[in-house]
Amino acid sequence: MSETQASGTQPAVATANETLTVVDNRTGKQYEVPITDGTVRAMDFRQIKTGDEDFGLMTYDPAFTNTASCRSAITFIDGDKGILEYRGYPIEQLAEKATFLEVAYLLIFGELPTQPQLDEWTHAITTHTFVHENVKSFVEGFRYDAHPMGMLQASVAALSTFYPEAKDIKDEQTRYEQIVRLIAKMPTLAAFAYRHAKGMPYVYPDNDLNYAENFLSMLFKIAELKYEADPRIAKALDVLLILHADHEQNCSTSAVRSVGSSQVDPYSATAAGIGALFGPLHGGANQAVLEMLQEIGTVENVPAYIESVKAGDKKLMGFGHRVYKNFDPRAKIIKKAVDDVFEVTGVSPLLEIAQELERIALEDDYFVSRKLYPNVDFYSGLIYEALGLPVEMFTVLFAIGRTPGWIAQWLEMVQDKEQKIARPRQIYTGDRTRDYVAIDQRG
Ligand code: CMC
Repeated sequence: MSETQASGTQPAVATANETLTVVDNRTGKQYEVPITDGTVRAMDFRQIKTGDEDFGLMTYDPAFTNTASCRSAITFIDGDKGILEYRGYPIEQLAEKATFLEVAYLLIFGELPTQPQLDEWTHAITTHTFVHENVKSFVEGFRYDAHPMGMLQASVAALSTFYPEAKDIKDEQTRYEQIVRLIAKMPTLAAFAYRHAKGMPYVYPDNDLNYAENFLSMLFKIAELKYEADPRIAKALDVLLILHADHEQNCSTSAVRSVGSSQVDPYSATAAGIGALFGPLHGGANQAVLEMLQEIGTVENVPAYIESVKAGDKKLMGFGHRVYKNFDPRAKIIKKAVDDVFEVTGVSPLLEIAQELERIALEDDYFVSRKLYPNVDFYSGLIYEALGLPVEMFTVLFAIGRTPGWIAQWLEMVQDKEQKIARPRQIYTGDRTRDYVAIDQRG
């Protein structure tokens, strides 16, 4: 088995003959295609042609369900076994023993930091949490009911105008500075968006606090001199951020890589990732889960809701995953964090509905046969709700957690000599070479 096999693929069987024999029945010609890391290269099929005029064979894979777009050493997922590892470290150990900034360092630089490295990294992040005062002015310009994900996306994109040097993506030091800024400023921008919706003054970062505590302070501080978060809440938030930190080539990460492949600055690429995350099938699912639980309202309504899902009228939000087909290891850890948070805040009445949904769904053949299990978003919304956050902020929390992953993937991409501008092909299905018709002659 090669150590660099595609994440989630089965080990390639090592034989002397690591090739695929393809016979083109249109021409009777036979081709040998190399297999590397359990993968064939789509470009190796281009040579398969019916004649000189033929463009050559392409592969068709809408939604990239079976196409590796890169080689990556960041995150390993085995969807069948429910394994998630960052740089080889199991998510369970990181969630229990590490901090979010330690995990961010691990994802970006490849190794767990030594104490001096962690101190320097923490210092760098902590001292870059402030944003330019003008950022405040344009955040203020949003409508009172602007969705905070739209505000976050726009303000992250706008950071590129404050740091024009960020476009120099080939310079290591410049890259490092933007990485630090992105991780440091994301909670500040997110908190400003929250305070804007509340009509409350923005709270500046407090450099005495750790990453999660500072974020809670910027969200919730009112008149007190110093905001002191309950350590159990701060810890649960830190764990949630760790669980969201990376997930290999998901929709938003692919967006970051794809946009970043044009060699644009990392703020613009990250803003693209935030846009992708906003959707209800991706990070927006945590908001959708809470709205679903509120719509169901009581435990008695759960069976009827399940029936409408099975009838195809609705989706059970927070269930199912493109990669995990057994269980989502993050969901298991979050269930524990839910207990910790509810110990502080009191139990949400929605928890009972969520547990009943899960119980029925895990027994029902519709869900069992389709391998639909609770994913990371199923319980995270309950925690965010218990923290007093409005549903619109849920996906913003996901974005803060995912930022180190997006950046680690972006960094890997810009340093990968094999990567070029992302530019998929298409199968053209439209008309060809038609003569222009004057408007008065169109039927
Ligand atoms: N509720 C009901 N049925 C479902 C669900 C669901 N949540 N998810 C999938 N199915 C059914 C789907 O209808 C299909 O049934 P059939 O074979 O009869 O047509 C079958 O299961 C396979 O589904 P699929 O759509 O081919 O699966 P996919 O890999 O394309 O989609 C997914 C994965 C996560 C988009 C999907 O499961 C879904 O929409 N889930 C709800 C949204 C959600 O919770 N998203 C968060 C994902 S985890 C965090 C993240 O990525 O941000």
